Amino acid sequence: MKFFIDTANLAQIKEANDLGILDGVTTNPSLMAKEGITGTDNVMKHYKAICAIVDGDVSAEVISTDFEGMIREGEMLAALDEKIVVKIPMIKEGIKAIKHLTSMGIKTNCTLVFSSGQAILAAKAGATYISPFIGRLDDISYDGIQLIAEIAQIFAVQGYQTQILAASIRNPIHIIKSAQVGAHVITSPLDSILALLKHPLTDSGLEKFLADHKKANS
Ligand code: G3P
Repeated sequence: MKFFIDTANLAQIKEANDLGILDGVTTNPSLMAKEGITGTDNVMKHYKAICAIVDGDVSAEVISTDFEGMIREGEMLAALDEKIVVKIPMIKEGIKAIKHLTSMGIKTNCTLVFSSGQAILAAKAGATYISPFIGRLDDISYDGIQLIAEIAQIFAVQGYQTQILAASIRNPIHIIKSAQVGAHVITSPLDSILALLKHPLTDSGLEKFLADHKKANS
């Protein structure tokens, strides 16, 4: 399973990349706004800065909702760097745009996926990735991990090549469960990735090893 980081914060992207396990980055308009990145020129420069840090796919989201606008933006984003994956919302025009961009050889990530039906449509259109939002489903008392499992089963039965990118990750359990049920990729905030490191027995065990070494060598 690939690990993407879900942020537009360059320091956090660098920190995750320095771990040596980072496979890519996902962003969205909310994450760009959170970093104070505004205006087309600055947004484009920021995507280039992200691409310069990571060796992997970088999802950049369109803000148009009509077919022509999405294609125009998608072409502009894809021209920035070969790492760019054009993120397109799961709407009718979006499906058409995914089909078109795919036929041009441009990678796509269908975002805001909340059902298996939506996942099937995006896969049929040729999306490189689909992004089911598991945290936002959990927030409204639907089981986000169950959706990942259902889509993984459907894609395996049908032989779809589209990769399942578990998004809207809120905690390390989401990452572990996504791996268990067959997600190809998770995209997560840095804190949930770092939380995977933690175990109290690791900390106390290391403390004891070091104390015993010091005693024996003093
Ligand atoms: O990037 C899309 C997704 O990961 C957003 O997550 O936490 O805003 O639901 P969240």
